[in-house]
Amino acid sequence: MSMNSQGRPTAATGGGESAQFESFSGHVGLRLAEPLIYELGTVETTGVDFEALDDLELAVGGLERTSEIGCPGLAEPDVVRHYTRLSRRNYGIDMGVFPLGSCTMKHNPRLNEKMARLPGFGDIHPLAPKRAVQGAFQLMDELSHWLMTLTNMPAVALSPKAGAHGELCGVMAIRAALEARGDAREIILCPESAHGTNPATAAFCGYKVKSIPAKDNGKVDIDALKAALDDTVAAVMLTNPNTCGLFETEIREIADAIHKAGAFFYCDGANFNAIMGKVCPGDLGVDAMHFNLHKTFSTPHGGGGPGSGPVVFSDALKAHVPVPYVVKTADGFDLVEDIDDASMGRLTAFHGQMGMYVRALSYMLSHGGDGIQQAAEDAVLNANYVLASLSDVMTASFDGPCMHEALFDDRFLKDTGVTTLDFAKAMIDEGYHPMTMYFPLVVHGAMLIEPTESESKANMDQFIRSMRGLAGAAKAGEVERFSGAPYHAPWGRLDETQAARQPVLRYASE
Ligand SMILES: Cc1ncc(COP(=O)(O)O)c(C=O)c1O
Repeated sequence: MSMNSQGRPTAATGGGESAQFESFSGHVGLRLAEPLIYELGTVETTGVDFEALDDLELAVGGLERTSEIGCPGLAEPDVVRHYTRLSRRNYGIDMGVFPLGSCTMKHNPRLNEKMARLPGFGDIHPLAPKRAVQGAFQLMDELSHWLMTLTNMPAVALSPKAGAHGELCGVMAIRAALEARGDAREIILCPESAHGTNPATAAFCGYKVKSIPAKDNGKVDIDALKAALDDTVAAVMLTNPNTCGLFETEIREIADAIHKAGAFFYCDGANFNAIMGKVCPGDLGVDAMHFNLHKTFSTPHGGGGPGSGPVVFSDALKAHVPVPYVVKTADGFDLVEDIDDASMGRLTAFHGQMGMYVRALSYMLSHGGDGIQQAAEDAVLNANYVLASLSDVMTASFDGPCMHEALFDDRFLKDTGVTTLDFAKAMIDEGYHPMTMYFPLVVHGAMLIEPTESESKANMDQFIRSMRGLAGAAKAGEVERFSGAPYHAPWGRLDETQAARQPVLRYASE
């Protein structure tokens, strides 16, 4: 079997699925091998008819191309087939349960897609005259209203484009507030169980990060937190429900201690789907919190976005929200784009992800208040069903019920020769995307399962049967079933260390 420079079998020599069926195309049955688009296309081919370029007047001020860019050209059907074949080699929420903990990969109601594709929203342009996009502004205003209502917080910034971007927005507002009162502080406290984006955000904003340990019950060690709080601490970044899938019950006491020290409370709201309609972060003393609109309300993230991470703010921070934002006027809506002294300025070029705004509002309005509460309850119920159904064969990391995700560790694999990674890879052979592995870091060999509210009992029972079967096989010593898994995926076990340390990011022809 011959490989190209990327270590992939080439179409010309076959070897896609199985060496014994080597053929010119590399296809086996209806499982089609797929070369890179650079290998499929040629610079001579094009899928569109353009007029001869020689006659075009180029006005790029001396930046005209002097040579071919060498992009592969393909006819339209070949492009469609290429991406369709690739999509069939992938796994998505529309194929089955996607239990990736902390990522909230849930069903995206098609109603929301339909709304986002309405021409008035789908074809909108950020530079359109304000009078032409009043409906879009109205939608943003209404979305803002419901985000503030659900959290009981007085201000919101819609423009951040992902959860991590929302964290950046929140911490920049905190920094602006501290600067405004002439209070230079240099530390941000993050619990050990925090998502990596929390300490990364703090460091990116110029703060030193101090880690706060977790207690044996998976919650933040409040005594250690209080001991670390002094007048050098700018903020505490805490996730609630936390990444162990547990609600931080001492959150009010934590908020009081943070404020007493003159610091701000940033809440990572990535897990808000577990408490929406049930708990208002504003009532818990939170100063800033991002939502991952793409996780909480609609459209699971993955595949690189686009996402949306609006941030809600308390009274103490609301003066520092970024521009642009929508305001209601006597005769419609306007966009505030001018920066006053307090505002942190502009975080993004334009208003944010319109498509996500439409999907999120559509999710909220189609569920209604009761429906949103029900979705939160179902997310928690489903996670507890998984936890209770697997606790006798796998090791649950903490006692008692969980919130929206069930956390297991690798103690049940002790002495089996099977690791968390092996177990996760074997799930692929069972037809499932693996759960989140080795996160959170506070438990050894973590396996974090988030079924979300959108799975039926039948789907979960099937998933649970597969997981029980795997746990049984590992304990019965069927090591080979795990060590080389996946055996039935288009590609076998990849070298993840090399992929991370020496990523091949650019195609180079031989
Ligand atoms: C707890 C937590 N915080 C922050 C993030 C970052 O969000 P995003 O991927 O939208 O940037 C995630 C993403 O999964 C998360 O789970």
